[in-house]
Amino acid sequence: MSYTRLTSELALELQGICANSIASGEELLPYGRDYTEDLSFTPDIVLFPENTQQVSQIAKFCNQHLLPLTCRGAGTGLSGGCLPVEGGVVMSLEKMNRILKMDAVNYQAIVEPGVINETLQQAVQELGMFYPPDPASKGSCTLGGNVAHSSGGPRCVKYGTTRDYILNLEVVLANGDVIHTGANVLKNSTGYNLTQLMIGSEGTLGIVTAITVKLLPYPPYRSLLLATFKSASEACACVSSIFQAGVQPSAIEFMDRKGVALSVRHQNIAFQQGDEAAYLLIEVDGFEESELMPQSEKVYEALEKHGVIDVLLAEDSETREKFWKIRRSIGEVVKQHSIYKEEDTVVTRSYLPDLYEGVLKLSEQYGFEAVCYGHAGDGNLHVNILKTNMSDEQWQNQLPEAIREIFKMCKQYGGTISGEHGIGLVQKSYMDIVMTEAHFEIMRGIKRSFDPNMILNPGKIFA
Ligand code: LAC
Ligand code: ZN
Repeated sequence: MSYTRLTSELALELQGICANSIASGEELLPYGRDYTEDLSFTPDIVLFPENTQQVSQIAKFCNQHLLPLTCRGAGTGLSGGCLPVEGGVVMSLEKMNRILKMDAVNYQAIVEPGVINETLQQAVQELGMFYPPDPASKGSCTLGGNVAHSSGGPRCVKYGTTRDYILNLEVVLANGDVIHTGANVLKNSTGYNLTQLMIGSEGTLGIVTAITVKLLPYPPYRSLLLATFKSASEACACVSSIFQAGVQPSAIEFMDRKGVALSVRHQNIAFQQGDEAAYLLIEVDGFEESELMPQSEKVYEALEKHGVIDVLLAEDSETREKFWKIRRSIGEVVKQHSIYKEEDTVVTRSYLPDLYEGVLKLSEQYGFEAVCYGHAGDGNLHVNILKTNMSDEQWQNQLPEAIREIFKMCKQYGGTISGEHGIGLVQKSYMDIVMTEAHFEIMRGIKRSFDPNMILNPGKIFA
């Protein structure tokens, strides 16, 4: 695809549509990065529209002039999904950050894409309502970005991912037309499900300008415990046993020893490690305090069966926050520690021990260091690959082979190559592991019908 280069005349016309912009200099640079490795692509212009009409005019203009148009929220993505690989126009939706409607009668809210995840969570909680999806970056990531990747988080094991909380989307199409993909209802059997098609499409099919989310009543009681295991594989195997025991935890997170060690060291958290190899952080929640104990007892029984060393119950909010901080910081501290790559593997839950052991074997074979952690209850293991002692040559040429092996294992164990981070830029060369030419042909057809000039987020998901 050959795109038009942004001339100063075209830039001026775009600024006529949207004055709030950056058209030159170092201020462009942050808009060419996200949280994925150290990747960086500089856009030619960044626009900050404030309403749907401006978004529509910008899209229409880019479509007419064949300018690449890449949208972004807070830039906390982990697959390079918002990187402007072809340069051109970056549209940041950060100024569209209003909660447009709070509907406590129907348990719904309508928000603009730039609303921060945690801002929505807090606003609805004040009214006794609950928006469950809680990515590690919840304090900074935006709902628009969450929709783009169907983001997850610890609570998704009980409540589902972003995908399960979107009723309707206002979308600006590549040609500037504005559509609603669904309706503000809890059931909808009206033609193709464009809402679900748009979710996870990573900005390649349209630009989301308003989001109707489904809300739940807020469960006010929760109990959190941290279990330590001598064997990491046993910790992984214990996850299925907890569900087998008839419990539906509101979080069940795996952390290996290295991940916790890095987290407490970099964050200066007071936490003593013994000789444990891994941890499970398990939370149960409920509407009555009395619901917690019976669930916890079943969890304890499952833990015993898998050789748990110790179970630390977080009895006060300080300890709860500490445990969650250890868990939520791992992704971030790994980045400070080493050159790394992050894989978002996901398998059928009972295969988690096989996946974990397979990753360890590959790490020995290829000589990388692995830090594994993540949403074990979903079979979703984040595998951070650290460069450590690998040579540049090995890192460049052999590591992609190792990653391919990891992803082949995911497929073999009923899974796929991303559970919640998306494909974006850095995983697209592995898509052939889980998709056939028939899949690609269907996806290309969908892309063509939404965006015939291929202006939206070029170079992502598939070639
Ligand atoms: C987490 C992010 C990396 O779970 O998805 O911490
Ligand atoms: Zn995660």
